[in-house]
Amino acid sequence: MPATASRRVLLAAPRGYCAGVDRAVIAVEKALEQYGSPIYVRKEIVHNKYVVQTLERKGAVFVDETEEVPEGSIVVFSAHGVAPSVHDEAKRGKLATIDATCPLVTKVHKEALRYAEEDYDILLIGHEGHEEVVGTMGEAPERTHLVDGAEDVANVQVRDESKVVWLSQTTLSVDETMATVGALQQRFPLLTSPPSDDICYATSNRQTAIKQIAGESDLVIVVGSRNSSNSVRLVEVSLEAGAKAAHLVDFADEIDEAWLEGVGTVGVTSGASVPEILVEGVLEWLAARGYGDVEQVRTSEEHLQFSLPKELRRDLRAEA
Ligand code: F3S
Repeated sequence: MPATASRRVLLAAPRGYCAGVDRAVIAVEKALEQYGSPIYVRKEIVHNKYVVQTLERKGAVFVDETEEVPEGSIVVFSAHGVAPSVHDEAKRGKLATIDATCPLVTKVHKEALRYAEEDYDILLIGHEGHEEVVGTMGEAPERTHLVDGAEDVANVQVRDESKVVWLSQTTLSVDETMATVGALQQRFPLLTSPPSDDICYATSNRQTAIKQIAGESDLVIVVGSRNSSNSVRLVEVSLEAGAKAAHLVDFADEIDEAWLEGVGTVGVTSGASVPEILVEGVLEWLAARGYGDVEQVRTSEEHLQFSLPKELRRDLRAEA
């Protein structure tokens, strides 16, 4: 890039924490304040390295399964939700549970249950092995078929083609999901759609925001962890929307100086599980390399807030 060419940052908004992540992280913090450590958390409370490390330092203990939690302890279920069998395991282990499942994931669980009760076959669009998908499938395992992208549609077998509904994971690419739904509709013309989309507001707002600036960006930096579905989607969406390059980083020190070669405009965004402090770190890193001119580009406002899990609210109220 010539020395005179302008260097700037376009900062996408909305970005970062969604209402479900905010609630889940506060739930663990409040539980630690209220009951003291250790507070056990099944799986990563949200898919972000920094958040998990920070809560660990405060006394949270992350486990993979409830079986690892000592009898009588308190366990928090993560924002991604759990299958009913996990609630049963916790009961057997005499654990006190705090369910931090995002209410928008709970909504999909309820839909799955309702359609299963009405004897539908459920085609769940999502990524195999993702915790949210495992939890949602657990509501009606015999009725639910995972559809992992449009190329998976040909493999789906249902009992009655006139009683099929599609649902989806909340953190997918909006465009890819619509393409998969289109392929499903071709295959099953009587396919029922859910009353409202399952991809949550935060996922679609962050994708719309990055699309707005990706076309002008020589490089997009997405702050987020590799196991964060919505963060990984932001990289893909950036590239599809015209960014010349896009990379995912957990922390500023993961940015490779070579990525900046010939770059005038850098787009920056962050996934729904990413605290703003990590974005600030990236902006500082960029400013130190001549990219101090930052313009925020906002495509929507977000005001949604969820109340804390009911188990916690009850105890906090009793204390007040
Ligand atoms: Fe919930 Fe969407 Fe966030 S499902 S946890 S609001 S990414």
